[in-house]
Amino acid sequence: MSRKPIIAGNWKMYKTVKESVDFVKQLEGKLKDVTDREILVCPTALAAASVVDALRFTNIQVGLQDAHWENEGAYTGNISPIMLKDAGVHYIILGHSERRQYDNDTDHRINAKLKNVLRSGLKAIVCVGETLSEREKGQTEKVVETQVNGCFEGIGLGDLAGIVIAYEPVWAIGTGKTATPEQANEVHSFIRKLIGKKYNAEASEKIRIQYGGSVKPENIKQLMAQLDIDGALVGGASLKVDSFTAIVRF
Ligand code: 13P
Repeated sequence: MSRKPIIAGNWKMYKTVKESVDFVKQLEGKLKDVTDREILVCPTALAAASVVDALRFTNIQVGLQDAHWENEGAYTGNISPIMLKDAGVHYIILGHSERRQYDNDTDHRINAKLKNVLRSGLKAIVCVGETLSEREKGQTEKVVETQVNGCFEGIGLGDLAGIVIAYEPVWAIGTGKTATPEQANEVHSFIRKLIGKKYNAEASEKIRIQYGGSVKPENIKQLMAQLDIDGALVGGASLKVDSFTAIVRF
């Protein structure tokens, strides 16, 4: 089964509104002809509406880096999926390790957010991945399995079409240390089997699993050559037009 590659840029807390708009205007010109992969940029919530505007009628979609589990209420500082859907956003990244580390995202919360994102008609990228010490203790599979089980609690087979999984080993994020393509693929194939066990063989064949962690123009080809790697969630290298363009075109 062929899965359409999905390349996403996670801009984290970088770029002002103007920088974001200038960036996507340049990017759009460079990627106009690309039709065989899904392209996504994930700016800050502040820049989202302007970026959506700048990318209207293009082949580049817009994602956000988080969204709340409720659609409105007294939640100071938060933003909800229906507001983002209304602004023209397509995807929400959920459970990024930085949010797990600094913003109290637990599997339980990510699960609640995921349900609300899907209810709101948006798609989700659900991030999982082990820390260095977990890997060194041989706990990678156990950690990833716990995360997948927690995040997917109560998620039905029919919901899977709106979900992409991102495997991001925490030790490879922003460190320049990429997992080797084989190391990454091993975990991707483990996650795919897990989805097969939880759902069925067709679901496991269909679901797309992105790799994230020091993806660069120099390593994207080898990563994408792996059987179970269907895309990339790119941090640092997505902040420059040239490097992100090269990664999308791998
Ligand atoms: P880097 O590409 O900077 O390692 O970040 C990866 C990441 O966290 C993407 O979500």
